[in-house]
Amino acid sequence: MRYYTNVKDLGDLNLALAEASEIKKDRYKFEALGKHNTCLLIFFNNSLRTRLSTQKAARNLGMDVIVLDVNQGAWKLETERGVIMDGDKSEHLLEAIPVMASYCDIIGVRSFAGLTNRDDDYTEKVLTEFIKYSGKPVFSMEAATGHPLQAFADLITIEEYKRKDRPKVVLTWAPHPRALPQAVPNSFSDFMNEADVDFVITHPHGYELDEKFVRGANVEYDQMKAFQGADFIYAKNWSCPGVTTPEDYGKILSKDMSWTVDTAHMAATNDAFFMHCLPVRRNMIVSDDVIEAPTSLVIPEAANREISATVVLKRMLEAL
Ligand code: CP
Repeated sequence: MRYYTNVKDLGDLNLALAEASEIKKDRYKFEALGKHNTCLLIFFNNSLRTRLSTQKAARNLGMDVIVLDVNQGAWKLETERGVIMDGDKSEHLLEAIPVMASYCDIIGVRSFAGLTNRDDDYTEKVLTEFIKYSGKPVFSMEAATGHPLQAFADLITIEEYKRKDRPKVVLTWAPHPRALPQAVPNSFSDFMNEADVDFVITHPHGYELDEKFVRGANVEYDQMKAFQGADFIYAKNWSCPGVTTPEDYGKILSKDMSWTVDTAHMAATNDAFFMHCLPVRRNMIVSDDVIEAPTSLVIPEAANREISATVVLKRMLEAL
């Protein structure tokens, strides 16, 4: 695997899940694979889980790891071509990328959506430049429109906890005080559409996700109706994707607290497991009771980030 930006890069999902299971049984099984190879992790945005789990995954495979927080200690980077660089940005991404690439064998990039220019975000401007100018294998650690390491970990978790062959999985929008990108729900939809699940998306009007990720999945605007019979509830906030109202791209259209996942919502389900990628705003997205219940999977889900990253890095090393 040379690039990892979406579900298609994994190929057969059943094979990927089998590989995840093999690695989970012995996460150091491929320790010799990464010897004398360096993984560079570049963060344009904050992270807890991705930062730690991806470093752990690289070390499971015997790699050296370098972590760069672009906004803390590096030169401020210009990303636009044609700009007269007379401001506070000292270095252009077009020089920085090949320089950074010269110190490593594989590059992970975290670069969130700006939420102001939909075209810039949905063409994955920054991630694409790394792919184009680094000459190295590149994987997304959450880019503008996708978070495939998270979604793969989510799928691994569903596979581990499912009680029937084809569980009902519901992705639900929930309120949040700040405008958040659509990367997590996009990738979750991308993966669920490929997985053997009955997938339903529920959100208020105006929050329709891009069809590239929804791909005809069932959208139910009545949240309680969507929850009926669900085996897994996956909660997430996202800002307006600008599908039905392009002028609202990146805006908060609702803070309706009746969408917060609480025990009344979960009572409508088939004793569903609760999932969220974390970090989560308690009593905005989900009530204390639900996230602390035995059916909450948020911790095993986060732990599986190490497994999803180990599978992806292993495949990238094998293709070097
Ligand atoms: N879920 C996730 O990606 O967490 P971080 O933002 O902390 O990395």
